[in-house]
Amino acid sequence: HAQDAAAGEKVFAPCKACHQIGENAKNAVGPALNGVIGRKAGSVEGYNYSPANKNSGLTWDEATFAEYIKDPKAKIPGTKMVYAGLKDEQKIKDLIAYLKQFDAT
Ligand code: HEM
Repeated sequence: HAQDAAAGEKVFAPCKACHQIGENAKNAVGPALNGVIGRKAGSVEGYNYSPANKNSGLTWDEATFAEYIKDPKAKIPGTKMVYAGLKDEQKIKDLIAYLKQFDAT
């Protein structure tokens, strides 16, 4: 199948341990993820990023985000995000479709 936001909601479940998204989402262990696709890395106001993430120079377009989520520590050495990585290409597509439902606020 193509991108499936409903399937992506399930893929996002483990992310919720550290990230909020949607109405009233706040920074938590990780930064709030509204509007993340298209956003400059390290740019959420009030969130205390690692220097590695803050200064990565990346923008979270779909391709860059897909590389990151496969292996966060490979894409941003020194990130403080503790997440082993999501390898399944279809799940990554679905996750992106889910994330894109939430605009920056
Ligand atoms: C950072 C997504 C799982 C903790 C980030 C960033 C993204 C992201 C895109 C960079 C944000 C930015 O630059 O503004 C995700 C997704 C996850 C996930 C989609 C699930 C597939 C987790 C988990 C944890 C976590 C499980 C905690 C155990 C963090 C932290 C940061 C971060 C602490 C800040 C990193 C830093 O400043 O070095 N996450 N994340 N994330 N995430 Fe996650």
